[in-house]
Amino acid sequence: MSKHAELLARHRAVLPNWLALNYDEPIALVDGEGRHVIDAEGKRYLDFFGGILTTSIGYNLPEIVEVARDQMGKMVHTSTLYLIEAQIQLAERIAQRSGIEDAKVFFANSGTEANEAALLFSCISRQSNQIIALRNSYHGRSFTAMGVTGTRSWSASGLNPLDVSYVQGGYRLRSPFRALGDAEFIEAVADDLRDVLETTTTGDVAAIMVEPIQGVGGFVVPPDGLFKAMQEITEPLGINFISDEVQTGWGRTGTPYWGISHHGVVPDAMTFAKGLANGLPIGGVVARADLVDSVTVNSISTFGGNPLVTAVALATLDYIDAHNLPVNVEQRGEELLSGLREIARDYPEIGEVRGKGLMVAIEFVEPGGITPAPQIASRVMNETGSRGLLVGKGGRHGNCLRIAPPMSVTAEEVASAVQILRDAVRAAVGKPVGVHS
Ligand SMILES: Cc1ncc(COP(=O)(O)O)c(C=O)c1O
Repeated sequence: MSKHAELLARHRAVLPNWLALNYDEPIALVDGEGRHVIDAEGKRYLDFFGGILTTSIGYNLPEIVEVARDQMGKMVHTSTLYLIEAQIQLAERIAQRSGIEDAKVFFANSGTEANEAALLFSCISRQSNQIIALRNSYHGRSFTAMGVTGTRSWSASGLNPLDVSYVQGGYRLRSPFRALGDAEFIEAVADDLRDVLETTTTGDVAAIMVEPIQGVGGFVVPPDGLFKAMQEITEPLGINFISDEVQTGWGRTGTPYWGISHHGVVPDAMTFAKGLANGLPIGGVVARADLVDSVTVNSISTFGGNPLVTAVALATLDYIDAHNLPVNVEQRGEELLSGLREIARDYPEIGEVRGKGLMVAIEFVEPGGITPAPQIASRVMNETGSRGLLVGKGGRHGNCLRIAPPMSVTAEEVASAVQILRDAVRAAVGKPVGVHS
């Protein structure tokens, strides 16, 4: 029995059935360097998903490893009962970068916890549990985070402490407004928000929560300005605007540091997690001080913002700044998009290639329409894996490949990935249109 087959049998015996594994023959990753990883049987891959956008700058970087080693040798944990200088420094830095006036930061350990906290702050400060969320969204796995998740396949339970109304968002390919141009599309989505506020809420809504680019939903990129139009409706009503930046933060979408900045929006709160500490668990909220301080009883996250993760997070942000990675993200993202759009021209099975920065998706459909084709996405994914490229899958129908390499990816690595994807699509789907050999 191969090492991977043996691990799979043991995994199936003791881990939950619902923990999805990638690939028909799942693999274990045991080592990494830069944008490359090695599996437990010695095969090397280019990693264009970075552990779900979490290895944000690459594996085994000396600058990061050294900081982690040094801190491990001193102290991993003290709890928030004590002052933690790295935590204070990180909060200062995030507050300043947020653009939110008079901001404060609360640290937890995951995106789910970050969203829980942001929703809590809004509900307490507005004395309301009414929330506006977007269809096709994903915000996490707790009852409230699931409660604002607009995707059935990620909603394990309907129990929800929040009273949530779902509005149309930016998934234009599958929107009733898909035929409209940008300005008309934005107006139609804004009209829907007005209508939902008037018909399904009592008016005193606590918050609207959005992902600037829906991640799990298939890297759905709305037209720039959509969220500004929404904020113009919600702000006069006192509704807090929460941007879930768990996937889109720290330059992942290009030079605007936050995904929401593309829309000209400064939100009341942003939530973050995933890539901040390049793989160590961290999450949190940056928000207006009065929102954060609306909690008047005791509250604590035992691990949140501990000395190890905050030291590594600071080193990660230093690395992003020192290497000007948001500019690299923009340039490599353009190369990736144009390479994939060229492939799409030959394949009617590719319904759409979309993206911003280094969040790029290929959506597979049945030729001649937009019927989702998850079986094609799976076949292409298996073919990329066997050719030495790791990518992610997603979308409401599981028919999208999600491509999001570490932000330090090079032009050569992007070119290799595009070539592998071209070969994989051909192997999975057949000859491109117009090619006969
Ligand atoms: C946009 C968004 N918000 C929240 C979460 C939940 O984060 P976590 O899995 O760290 O709880 C995710 C996870 O994929 C996410 O993509």
